[in-house]
Amino acid sequence: MEREWNYHIQLHLHLLLIVCYSFVPVESLNEEGAFLLEFKKSFVDPSNNLQSWNSLDSTPCNWSGIGYADNVRVFSINLKAFNLSGNLSSCVCKLPYLTELNVSTNFISGHIPSDLAHCHNLEVLDLCTNRFHGELPTQLFEMASLRKLSLCENYVYGEIPEEIGNLTLLEELVIYSNNLTGMIPSSLSKLKRLGILRAG
Ligand SMILES: *[C@@H]1O[C@H](CO)[C@@H](O)[C@H](O)[C@H]1NC(C)=O
Ligand SMILES: *[C@@H]1O[C@H](CO)[C@@H](O)[C@H](O)[C@H]1NC(C)=O
Ligand SMILES: *[C@@H]1O[C@H](CO)[C@@H](O)[C@H](O)[C@H]1NC(C)=O
Ligand SMILES: *[C@@H]1O[C@H](CO)[C@@H](O)[C@H](O)[C@H]1NC(C)=O
Ligand SMILES: *[C@@H]1O[C@H](CO)[C@@H](O)[C@H](O)[C@H]1NC(C)=O
Ligand SMILES: *[C@@H]1O[C@H](CO)[C@@H](O)[C@H](O)[C@H]1NC(C)=O
Repeated sequence: MEREWNYHIQLHLHLLLIVCYSFVPVESLNEEGAFLLEFKKSFVDPSNNLQSWNSLDSTPCNWSGIGYADNVRVFSINLKAFNLSGNLSSCVCKLPYLTELNVSTNFISGHIPSDLAHCHNLEVLDLCTNRFHGELPTQLFEMASLRKLSLCENYVYGEIPEEIGNLTLLEELVIYSNNLTGMIPSSLSKLKRLGILRAG
């Protein structure tokens, strides 16, 4: 009788252990990975070039186009020529260490989101050779960390605002082939580091 009782307890213990182990949580995707998946949602990716962006990974360190360092985490996104269409989502700005966003040479359309101005640490923004249309958001000229701003070959209209003089770190401004109008503002002369200007 006692033996049988022991046996039952043991069996229960085993079952309990099996049940517990099968519920040990798999290490889940970190917050930055989740932000990137949210960012991906607004793209259409017919060539499956973002296939490696997998929610089962624990970090986005191996995802294509992502620059990741253990100490700073996601610092760059470079999706040049990934055959992407759809829209650009400003939710990338939730990535606190993002310094480069480069989506040049795709088929991305819609407006350039004015909320990109929330990417406070962004140094390089390259949106060239896409199908962005609508008015140039003047908020882009509040991004004080920008060193390179490339918007060439899109369908953006409007004027370059005087506020461009606030981008004191700007080294490169590439805006040719758009529907921009008006004069190059005189405040541009305040940009002492500006070495490359391709407008027109
Ligand atoms: C892109 O934006 C347009 C208009 O705002 C919307 O109709 C469309 O569904 C968006 N596409 C994606 C892939 O989110
Ligand atoms: C982009 O799409 C074209 C046409 O479908 C295809 O030939 C090309 O290999 C694709 N390139 C990439 C990088 O996916
Ligand atoms: C990234 O790839 C390396 C080499 O293939 C692998 O050892 C590592 O586990 C991968 N990391 C993640 C988070 O997927
Ligand atoms: C965007 O990425 C491409 C490919 O890596 C690179 O050639 C280009 O210089 C980048 N744009 C900027 C503004 O750095
Ligand atoms: C940005 O530039 C405008 C026009 O040149 C100026 O009035 C404004 O004070 C500047 N803002 C900042 C935050 O420097
Ligand atoms: C851009 O300008 C061209 C002519 O300069 C005009 O034909 C075209 O309709 C304009 N596009 C937009 C989106 O404003």
